[in-house]
Amino acid sequence: MKVRHLKRINLVGNFGDPTPNDPLVLDPSPDGVAMAIRTGMCPVDRAFDRFLPDELRLVSGQFWTPLLVALRAAEWLEECHVRTVVDIGSGVGKFCVAAALASRCQFTGIEQRPRLVAAARALAAVFNVTDRVSFLDGSLGEISLPIPDAYYLYNPFGENLFGSQDHLDEDVELSADRYERDVAAVRELLWLAPVDTYVIVYNGFGGQVPLGYREIRADHELPNPLCMWQKTTAREPGPFSWPLAG
Ligand SMILES: C[S@@+](CC[C@H](N)C(=O)[O-])C[C@H]1O[C@@H](n2cnc3c(N)ncnc32)[C@H](O)[C@@H]1O
Repeated sequence: MKVRHLKRINLVGNFGDPTPNDPLVLDPSPDGVAMAIRTGMCPVDRAFDRFLPDELRLVSGQFWTPLLVALRAAEWLEECHVRTVVDIGSGVGKFCVAAALASRCQFTGIEQRPRLVAAARALAAVFNVTDRVSFLDGSLGEISLPIPDAYYLYNPFGENLFGSQDHLDEDVELSADRYERDVAAVRELLWLAPVDTYVIVYNGFGGQVPLGYREIRADHELPNPLCMWQKTTAREPGPFSWPLAG
């Protein structure tokens, strides 16, 4: 497998060490942050996270995609001419909104916690991307999803295995049993997906991408591994049968 060497994205907006030409020092508004992202820069996460409600901003480092990761994924989506993306477990919408600012793709997030769906919709409105970013309120397997060109997953089910002190809240079922069911549901979704479908995974999803996918991008210099696969082979006819990992 050939892994491309990817260019680094400039970091700007370090409020602790401002420089006169730093666009976020001049304009830390949503328009300023959006402009920095659209012109190929990567603001520090807190410049973006300040538009989240306090209690959800404070847990950003643990639960939401870092900007550098979202922008690298957006770069890959653009390179592969992806038009539609589904984020499974979209949280406060940080990935969908940041990647929308950095690409021309359309994003749909599915999120099980209604308060996060509300925050995500508000974030999309703050950054004026509601024409390309929307959120579905519900759990994987319980509501129907659009069939996208690409799926994105940031370790969505890991919380099921955390101790209760590391849960975001206790509003949803969190258990090892649920973890197994959700990982199986993703594997089945990927198994059923049409040929050419892309999958981008940040920090794993608890299972392996099924047979028939080929890894086409990887970045191991981010805080956690980011990998992209493309489905190259049609599935065998018949029911979902737990194909071995590819
Ligand atoms: C690690 S966060 C990632 C959030 C977002 N994708 C991002 O990168 O910023 C995982 C999210 O997945 C959601 N989630 C977990 N299991 C889910 C399920 N079965 N259906 C829908 N959402 C789920 C959680 O509530 C949480 O908000």
